[in-house]
Amino acid sequence: MNLLQKIYCRVFQGAFRAALPVLPYREPEILRRVKDIPKVLLRKQIDAVLLVTDQGVRGLGLTQRLEKGLEEVGIRCAVYDKVVANPTIHNIEEARALYLKSGAQAIIAFGGGSAMDCAKVTGARIVKPKKPVHKMKGLLRIRKRLPLLIAVPTTAGTGSETTLAAVITDSGTKHKYPINDFSLIPRYAVLDYHVTLGLPKHITATTGMDALTHAVEAYIGRSTTKETRFMAEQATKLIYENLKKAYDDGKNAEARENMLQAAYCAGIAFSRSYVGYVHAIAHSLGGQYGVPHGLANAVILPYFLEEYGSACQKKLARLARVAGMVPRYTSDRRAAAAFIQWVKDMNKYMEIPETIKEIREEDIPAMAKHAAAEGNPLYPVPVLMDAAELEKMYEKIMEKREGKANADSGNGAKTENVLPKRKTHYIVLSKRSA
Ligand SMILES: NC(=O)c1ccc[n+]([C@@H]2O[C@H](COP(=O)([O-])OP(=O)(O)OC[C@H]3O[C@@H](n4cnc5c(N)ncnc54)[C@H](O)[C@@H]3O)[C@@H](O)[C@H]2O)c1
Ligand SMILES: [Fe+2]
Repeated sequence: MNLLQKIYCRVFQGAFRAALPVLPYREPEILRRVKDIPKVLLRKQIDAVLLVTDQGVRGLGLTQRLEKGLEEVGIRCAVYDKVVANPTIHNIEEARALYLKSGAQAIIAFGGGSAMDCAKVTGARIVKPKKPVHKMKGLLRIRKRLPLLIAVPTTAGTGSETTLAAVITDSGTKHKYPINDFSLIPRYAVLDYHVTLGLPKHITATTGMDALTHAVEAYIGRSTTKETRFMAEQATKLIYENLKKAYDDGKNAEARENMLQAAYCAGIAFSRSYVGYVHAIAHSLGGQYGVPHGLANAVILPYFLEEYGSACQKKLARLARVAGMVPRYTSDRRAAAAFIQWVKDMNKYMEIPETIKEIREEDIPAMAKHAAAEGNPLYPVPVLMDAAELEKMYEKIMEKREGKANADSGNGAKTENVLPKRKTHYIVLSKRSA
């Protein structure tokens, strides 16, 4: 990227950083049990809702108790369960039609990031009937209060239950893009680990690595605050201590609960301090090939951490120390290398590949263009890259061959083990620094 472009990006990011204290960020009210949702609706005198979910989640019976609970108190519930992974504009328009037809007054999002994002933009379309979804792309294009939105994450996860983002795919153009607006932050987030107990291994793995990517990209970026650093550190520590446990034993309630907490904390961190190119590229791969979001992030993350090199070394080292991966006195160079090695080790352990097989050479220029447009000037990444430089990253992610990842991890630091040594640890949200 040339110097003028770099200056433009950094000035733009500086302006947003300066505005951070006055921006209307808020957090959803947290409920710990799905069964408390009907009470909230009754209190608000709502008698009809739209439940937005997907067939996988509904097919497992996860929404059953809620549907029954609503019925018992006389709240009508229309169900839209056709959300696909990488939700589309078509999903949103169908859900919106059902909302209007059923006379719903509130939306319950029940599922992973796909269901939650579909529900968010459905709400946006309800209050902005004349604005098509593609015109909501980018920053602050909604600016209107949504119908009551309650989010129940069933993966841990995207953090969408607390973020101002929704990521939508235009299946016609194969373009996947984020919509960011404060009005998209749900009013309630239901962090009930019971709904995550049956999450299959590979989804536990990839969604957990998505949460880690949120924490890491927010932390190594240049627009952090005391609060977002704290949230990213806590999320990383919780993931270090719990992801492997949740992966090994899905029924481990403590690990599941801590992973939900981690995803939430990481969501707060990146909502205010942004993600980076890992996400920009992951979105392009989701749009072009339907590569699952968490899987793409998990594969891409170590490539960027290595590419950023010394520009993120100090911060990665701090994360490694806070998480307890290395002793406090470990040098920055060794601690950062240990962190990257841990990410690779986790990927390997959880059978996440080292490359994205779907990438085709001829698609790279268009995807890199989309990724650059998403990332620049907004994302305060440690090292700025333009589309041409991002193209080289796609080449690496595509070309890397089995075995190379662990061979070239660099400066000799080793993670002693992947297994976290400490027991689980809970964060008291109210105790965090402001
Ligand atoms: N809005 C945000 O802030 C934000 C942040 C990150 C990612 N995202 C977006 O979220 C989407 C990805 O969401 P995701 O990773 O949560 O996956 P997902 O919502 O696409 O779900 C993946 C699969 O997991 C299944 N599933 C979900 N919960 C389950 C459970 N408890 N038990 C069994 N199966 C279950 C679903 O049926 C689905 O088949 C992407 O589109 C991504 O871009 C949004
Ligand atoms: Fe993500």
